[in-house]
Amino acid sequence: MEKTTENKNDYIMECKGITKLFGGTRALDGVDLRIKKGEVHALLGENGAGKSTLMKIVVGLHKPDAGSIQFEGKPYAAKGPAEAIRAGVSMIHQELNPEPHLTIAESIFLKREDTYGKSPFLNKKETNKKAKEILDRFDFKIAPNVLMEELTLAQVQMIEIIKAVSCQARLIIMDEPTSSLDSEETQHLFKTIRDLKEKGVSIIYISHRMEEIFEICDTVSVFRDGRYIDTKSMDGVTNDELISLMVGRKVDQIFPKTSCPIGDVVFSAQGLSGKGFSDIGFDVHAGEILGISGLVGSGRSETVRAIFGLDSLSSGKLTLNGKEIRIRKPSDAIKHGICMVNEDRKGYGLCLFRSLRENISLPTLPVKQKGLMINRKKEKKETIEMANMLTVKMSGIEADCHSLSGGNQQKVVIAKWMMANPKVLILDEPTRGVDVGAKSEIHTLMCQFASRGMAVIMISSELPEIMGMSDRILVYHEGKLNGEVSRADILSGKIDQEDILSMEFGQKLYA
Ligand SMILES: Nc1ncnc2c1ncn2[C@@H]1O[C@H](COP(=O)(O)OP(=O)(O)OP(=O)(O)O)[C@@H](O)[C@H]1O
Ligand SMILES: [Mg+2]
Repeated sequence: MEKTTENKNDYIMECKGITKLFGGTRALDGVDLRIKKGEVHALLGENGAGKSTLMKIVVGLHKPDAGSIQFEGKPYAAKGPAEAIRAGVSMIHQELNPEPHLTIAESIFLKREDTYGKSPFLNKKETNKKAKEILDRFDFKIAPNVLMEELTLAQVQMIEIIKAVSCQARLIIMDEPTSSLDSEETQHLFKTIRDLKEKGVSIIYISHRMEEIFEICDTVSVFRDGRYIDTKSMDGVTNDELISLMVGRKVDQIFPKTSCPIGDVVFSAQGLSGKGFSDIGFDVHAGEILGISGLVGSGRSETVRAIFGLDSLSSGKLTLNGKEIRIRKPSDAIKHGICMVNEDRKGYGLCLFRSLRENISLPTLPVKQKGLMINRKKEKKETIEMANMLTVKMSGIEADCHSLSGGNQQKVVIAKWMMANPKVLILDEPTRGVDVGAKSEIHTLMCQFASRGMAVIMISSELPEIMGMSDRILVYHEGKLNGEVSRADILSGKIDQEDILSMEFGQKLYA
């Protein structure tokens, strides 16, 4: 028999037989995983497959019911993230939990007294100075004394990345690190990953974006329903092979855009200005999907937040079905039939400690209550239908939303607003963290709702998604509209992905 060249020392971490139960849910079932030194190892699996749970076990946030871990050849069982960092393992979490009242510098050094000797609160000047050095190293231009609550989700994510990378860990776990980053920031992260790899650091990379996995990873392990399926080298494996390993069936990845008649203008914005955007004007018609693209921070999310009443407008006019409307807070918008799926699902999208049923039917309750009482049977039936349509993996509709995996929470937020049947539906990164199968279900639903006359506004950082789904695309650059692209231009090939990207960077196409 040929002698194997594999050496035990090749591996930085080995997980054996890890099992984790949450009540009746078997989140992990005897999982094995081996990570080599200096490799970028992808974990792939549908929403709810168990990826985050396994990683939370590695950093000591969950205790496994069975199984063991070896780290650098020794038995390892961290009791919490601080202990994991001391052992050499840090993690960027899928669900960001910024401490709103800390400064960036305090947040970077929080609970890292052992690495840096001192509590970040003792000497503000020194903490800021050290933080500035770290921020500079990552080319992140922001003052260290800015409060976390003032940051956008993308900035919070950058800080999380910087925090995890600056701990000098030998294994860094990245759970959906790019879900709120744009293409430029993602390339920045990839450069950091390549530098770390060169220094021999191992990275576990979790993402639903296949093109990222192909670009940055060396190896991939696939999980399905809490079970380890297989590990493959990225050289030679195809996208289709990975998807069938992941879902156990074939998935149509082509955008299911159907064209439906475009009706009258439903909603229009004129001369909108506010924090981060100025002089924005556009119309959306019944049956139309209007895509908005632009880099993170270009003002896209800021504009829709202000339209929905989460932030204020300094000037501008909003019109719904020909009548001027005023929106000061989200409840005003909802009353007018304007709903929004926000990029920050935890902010106001979901009540995490309420059941799926309550969350999904919340916006429609006033309607259901018109009679004497809520029709519970109908509520239950509709909720189950919607959850099944979006393939939400759940133990039942009475389960609390915080027990759902990240992608499944996202599906609940979408179900909630779609059931409300609004006149205008704003979707900010609707398929963020959603697996390939469910993504195509969400796209199909978007088309169905549009064909019933809804006006849909969609922001996405994924250009293929924007280009595949929109009837028209508005491109932002530095707080202003830089141009508009029609579906016909895309279908005819007159405008491609590169063109839109250069418009995002400020180039004018029709100069
Ligand atoms: N705290 C918890 N309580 C109860 N169930 C949980 C808890 N955390 C996770 N689960 C369940 O464990 C299973 C695996 O979830 P996990 O978050 O690991 O999935 P994932 O692979 O990370 O999915 P995603 O791609 O959506 O992030 C899911 O069925 C989820 O509902
Ligand atoms: Mg997860």
